[in-house]
Amino acid sequence: MASVVYCLLLTCLISSSNSDKAFLSLDCPIENHGVYGQRSLMKCIAKTNGKENVTIKHVTWKKGDTKLLMVHDGDLTHNIDGFQFADPDWKVNLNASLLLTNTKMSDIGEYECMVYTTIGHQTAKTDLSVTAKYQTPTMNSIQGQNIKDNTDVTLFCNATGGDQKGYIQWFDEFGTNWTQNSELVSSKNENGLFNLSSRLVLKAPSSNYTCLVFNARGVQEGKASLNLQLMSMSGRDNRNSGDVHARYVAPLVIIGSLIAGLLFALLICRRRSQKARRPSAAPLMSDGHHTVTTEEDVVP
Ligand SMILES: *[C@@H]1O[C@H](CO)[C@@H](O)[C@H](O)[C@H]1NC(C)=O
Ligand SMILES: *[C@@H]1O[C@H](CO)[C@@H](O)[C@H](O)[C@H]1NC(C)=O
Ligand SMILES: *[C@@H]1O[C@H](CO)[C@@H](O)[C@H](O)[C@H]1NC(C)=O
Ligand SMILES: *[C@@H]1O[C@H](CO)[C@@H](O)[C@H](O)[C@H]1NC(C)=O
Ligand SMILES: *[C@@H]1O[C@H](CO)[C@@H](O)[C@H](O)[C@H]1NC(C)=O
Repeated sequence: MASVVYCLLLTCLISSSNSDKAFLSLDCPIENHGVYGQRSLMKCIAKTNGKENVTIKHVTWKKGDTKLLMVHDGDLTHNIDGFQFADPDWKVNLNASLLLTNTKMSDIGEYECMVYTTIGHQTAKTDLSVTAKYQTPTMNSIQGQNIKDNTDVTLFCNATGGDQKGYIQWFDEFGTNWTQNSELVSSKNENGLFNLSSRLVLKAPSSNYTCLVFNARGVQEGKASLNLQLMSMSGRDNRNSGDVHARYVAPLVIIGSLIAGLLFALLICRRRSQKARRPSAAPLMSDGHHTVTTEEDVVP
């Protein structure tokens, strides 16, 4: 009988100690977001119910199933370059978060965090996604800056650094959309980023072209403008504005004065002939009558 009571008491004690037992969990977001070339934080925080004084003894961070990024065992931390504990007081703060000091496209993937504490261990998985923005595009023309009249002009707008294949649009200074006349070539570079090169061929170029770079999500990430020094246009506009006058005004003056002279001459001629005719005007009229009368004269 006593042993039964003792047993019940024991199970009671055991179960009560079980419910009082320190509880460990890992708080890691499912998804982390990083930006290419910047620092990324992979959060992983150990939580307890505060029943015991818990410290971290051992941490392992892995990428995928096999690649060890960081191991802390005892007092030593072994890590791959670019991966470190985010919190200097991680042991006391139970903050096993991982810091990537220079995020790359190859860091995209699934990570695993294993935390061993004085009260047990837990494992959690978390993902990292990485985005990258296109840098300010560079522009050039095959013909250089001083472009002669009536030559075809080929313009380039190149942008590097996007995480996905984006696109480029072209406009002149009047806002006319030239994108349809352009050709886009894209390639992936050794960093896993995209290079865009858009080529625009123009027959009679305007003076200023702007290219806009958009990412795959349709968000504008870059813009550049190129001013073309068009030899003929700038020449006419500035230096030879006098020539333009001479070219168009001089012939007009000559033609004008010729016409005026001709009109004047005609006028004089008319006046002279009128003056000469005037006395004979009446007889001429009567001549007509005369002819009629003479005809009448002749008929009978
Ligand atoms: C927890 O343990 C550490 C060292 O083991 C000690 O310095 C600290 O005072 C303890 N904290 C509590 C609340 O017991
Ligand atoms: C863990 O450490 C990181 C880096 O210092 C910090 O951003 C984060 O807020 C910490 N989390 C907690 C719960 O202390
Ligand atoms: C853009 O790329 C094209 C083709 O790769 C190249 O010919 C051109 O020089 C580049 N332009 C600039 C400004 O980098
Ligand atoms: C410019 O033209 C391209 C290709 O025709 C078109 O996709 C784009 O929407 C146009 N952009 C604007 C601002 O009209
Ligand atoms: C070309 O035109 C754009 C837009 O109209 C303007 O912002 C830019 O300053 C111009 N570039 C040059 C070099 O004139």
